[in-house]
Amino acid sequence: MKIGERKVTIKGGKELKLRTPGKEDAEKVLSFRREVAGETIFLTRYPYEIENSIEKEREIIGNYSRAEHLGMLGIFDDDNIVAITSVSPIGLTFKTRHRASAELVVRKNYWNLGLGSFLLDMAIEMAGNCGYERLELSVFADNSRAIRLYKKKGFIECGQIPQAFKMMDGKYHDEILMSKNLWRH
Ligand SMILES: CC(C)(COP(=O)(O)OP(=O)(O)OC[C@H]1O[C@@H](n2cnc3c(N)ncnc32)[C@H](O)[C@@H]1OP(=O)(O)O)[C@@H](O)C(=O)NCCC(=O)NCCS
Repeated sequence: MKIGERKVTIKGGKELKLRTPGKEDAEKVLSFRREVAGETIFLTRYPYEIENSIEKEREIIGNYSRAEHLGMLGIFDDDNIVAITSVSPIGLTFKTRHRASAELVVRKNYWNLGLGSFLLDMAIEMAGNCGYERLELSVFADNSRAIRLYKKKGFIECGQIPQAFKMMDGKYHDEILMSKNLWRH
């Protein structure tokens, strides 16, 4: 699903742009992913593990624009991507295709400006418009900033996996699974 450009005003009054990234943004998306992976411990990959070629990323981004069951949104400050959210299916079988998974990442310099909250609202709306019934997230158990945000938007904790993430320093972090019902009454 493709969402066209619109303006977003953040705390402090600065204007940014929101839109579905196009194939021409593939390089920017890859740089964004590499950079944010180095800014926080709370993403599942280390920067060197963001390995897609530009061609592969172009293909993925193209799919997100085209397919009705996929959605991606980027926040752009001038030409730079500062935040991304995306929605994709957990599975494609009949029994699982009502469930979507979301990702939410904001560049550190842009934290606490309301972008995470705004983008999560957009992800919930996109998932509903795609026809999903549940939206799910996986989060490091000690990522209190993200967990607080998700709970505020109606996500509930529905499971914890001990030692789900092993870090290079040998430390472990648990994973919390969160889920939100998207049914419209
Ligand atoms: C989690 C993340 C998306 C939040 O984005 P953001 O743009 O900073 O979010 P917002 O500005 O909308 O809201 C931040 C909230 O966290 C709160 N907060 C700030 N520091 C906090 C802390 N140390 N502990 C708990 N809450 C905190 C703020 O007060 C605000 O809550 P409020 O709206 O009730 O005042 C962002 O920090 C991020 O991308 N982190 C790295 C990647 C990540 O963890 N992604 C989630 C993976 S599941």
